[in-house]
Amino acid sequence: MVELSLVMVKPHAFDTKKLGIIVSMLEQNGFKIVGLKSIKLTTELARRFYFVHEGKEFFERLIKYMSSGTIAAICVQKENCVVELRKLVGATDPTKSEVGTIRKAVGETVEANGVHSSDCIENARKEIRFFFSDIELYSYQYLDY
Ligand code: CMP
Repeated sequence: MVELSLVMVKPHAFDTKKLGIIVSMLEQNGFKIVGLKSIKLTTELARRFYFVHEGKEFFERLIKYMSSGTIAAICVQKENCVVELRKLVGATDPTKSEVGTIRKAVGETVEANGVHSSDCIENARKEIRFFFSDIELYSYQYLDY
């Protein structure tokens, strides 16, 4: 089934000009770019985005980090997109990510691990809605060739 998912490029990756590499890896692996924007999250927005992690030991550090610089939100489309994207993104800890994954290519630490990706279809839907309205998402439904 063709699905959508969300990639969020984290501040360190954006600052060190890795956005192009990340978009290129997505495209080379068959993900269509359906929406893309760069913004700076406030701490309030970062808390809302990562609310499922509230109370965890790393939560406050994560919020401070994610609101420290520019991020990019990318909505992608592909067959079996959520699972396929998580494979391409790799393990949370970049040192444990396999060669060929985005986190191996651009991640540095567990916190500055390059990108976030949605972990299931339901969260993908919520996370896409968090960043994009309908008119900001381009449908490739009829443009495959
Ligand atoms: P992400 O996919 O963005 O989801 C939550 C983020 O918390 C995760 O990637 C990591 O960057 C960050 N994080 C920081 N510390 C930890 C930890 N101990 N375990 C898991 N995630 C962590």
